[in-house]
Amino acid sequence: MTKYFNEGWFGQHPVLYEFASYFISSVRKTGARKMGLQKLKILDIATGTGAHALVLARLKHDVTGIDLDIKMLEKANKKKSPALHLTFKHEDGTNIQCNDHVYDAATISFAMHDVPYDIGIKLLQEAKRVISKTGFILIVDYNDLSGFGSRLLYFFASMYESPNYKPFVRRGLASYLLESGFHVESKSTFLGAVQYVTARPV
Ligand SMILES: C[S@@+](CC[C@H](N)C(=O)[O-])C[C@H]1O[C@@H](n2cnc3c(N)ncnc32)[C@H](O)[C@@H]1O
Repeated sequence: MTKYFNEGWFGQHPVLYEFASYFISSVRKTGARKMGLQKLKILDIATGTGAHALVLARLKHDVTGIDLDIKMLEKANKKKSPALHLTFKHEDGTNIQCNDHVYDAATISFAMHDVPYDIGIKLLQEAKRVISKTGFILIVDYNDLSGFGSRLLYFFASMYESPNYKPFVRRGLASYLLESGFHVESKSTFLGAVQYVTARPV
């Protein structure tokens, strides 16, 4: 079975992805602050070019980013610095090579919309397995189709996103979390268009 999805237009062009990513840096910073003040050991699943992982590491968290796309990881590795606790690994988020409950938290940013439902569930189930029983997950992604901001973005994002994008925003993230054994703890949005959701294992 294929476990690797990066079908959106930007995902196939890591250099352009990196460029586009620059414009949502404030979205990423807002998301990273949702992790709280305590220094955490975080697994960033489907880390891509590592932009979200970098923001977390700059907040002094100890971050490991994993992804299946070698070209994205090449960009990510350039973000490493001796001043940061930031590492990247070539790994499948649906089959993470580590023991249970070794991370304080997991993050998945702008990847859930890129994968089919069954793969999204597996990413979340693996996240649940690797975080501590009292840990949590932060998901940053397109908001569900619930308001003006998300509907406006839907119009544009439909043109360049992967075929998995539309089913994702129509279905709503809450159903993914429910099926994979999380309960939603908090939800906020960036202009109604991007959602930040924290959830804990049930
Ligand atoms: C749209 S990019 C998001 C990257 C990054 N998290 C960000 O915020 O910019 C989606 C990423 O998910 C990765 N991905 C998809 N399926 C995966 C899997 N099973 N395991 C690890 N990474 C995966 C792709 O390789 C791609 O880099």
